[in-house]
Amino acid sequence: MAEIQALSASTPEEVEQIRIKYLSKKGAISLLMNDFRSIPADMKREVGQKLNELKNAANDRLAELRENLASNAEAAKADIDLTRTATRFPMGSRHPLSIVKNDIFQIFGAMGFTIAEGPEIEDDWHVFSSLNFPPDHPARDMQDTFFISRSPQDILLRTHTSSVQTRTMESQKPPIRIICPGRVYRNEAISARAHCFFHQVEGLYIDRNVSFADLKQCLLYFAREMFGPETKIRLRPSYFPFTEPSAEMDISCHICGGKGCAFCKGTGWVEILGCGMVDPNVLEACGIDSKEFSGYAFGMGIERITNLKYRVKDLRMFSENDVRFLHEFDAAR
Ligand code: PHE
Repeated sequence: MAEIQALSASTPEEVEQIRIKYLSKKGAISLLMNDFRSIPADMKREVGQKLNELKNAANDRLAELRENLASNAEAAKADIDLTRTATRFPMGSRHPLSIVKNDIFQIFGAMGFTIAEGPEIEDDWHVFSSLNFPPDHPARDMQDTFFISRSPQDILLRTHTSSVQTRTMESQKPPIRIICPGRVYRNEAISARAHCFFHQVEGLYIDRNVSFADLKQCLLYFAREMFGPETKIRLRPSYFPFTEPSAEMDISCHICGGKGCAFCKGTGWVEILGCGMVDPNVLEACGIDSKEFSGYAFGMGIERITNLKYRVKDLRMFSENDVRFLHEFDAAR
């Protein structure tokens, strides 16, 4: 009896199997019924009653199981609401800085530049001294450095990825044609327009007979690929310890097309990078003969290029990891 009460089934086929096992012509209960004849007359009443109880219990349990199955199927049907919006599969997307960095890689990659990387924790030599920053010269203050230790050797967080250029020049012979992406650190008060870290891509090309005209053409190609074929460039004289001559490059404002607007503060131009011809002192410091080889270098902030392309108003948004901000770039790539 207990065995019958404990029967369970999760499909109609299982219910049918139970029926066959207990109640079909050759089922267990039917076989007991067949034996009824051979039971002594004085026990027939009692055994007959028990057999009937058993048969009824089996029939009842089968009916119960069928009913359960039917109501489960009904409930499952009720659960399917075709008017409900489909649940979205949560997809990740690229960070805007990665999107722009990949664009930069592609543009310079097409010109034969390969990617070089180096450590974020650096020594004074690779970040400053090899790059013609004289000791205790105010030029070092141009980049507000986070020092980690000051003796016996200055260890610091790199303030630019020019250190990767030095490392490459020390370990490879020209021709060298690299771009150096990476995070850099400067001790600045954090605001909408400045952060204590940002990302750069710097470039270096060293070979025989590299001229300023090569630099200009390379950067013009970059600007047009990045901001559109109408883009103009302008180079303004500037100063960096590691390049001579040095220049700051502007592009024609891609918002107003150069006419002057609030974005370019009415000038028609926006600044995007620093560049120049590698100072012979830098080549010599890295073991490259400056009479045989010359080269150019440039450096840009990825945040700045991203702001120009997508007009992100507050620099801090890049590192807050607010998914609502990140989702705005889902369509970009
Ligand atoms: N290293 C410079 C900076 O971080 C950028 C730069 C690189 C300028 C190469 C000129 C040449 O400000």
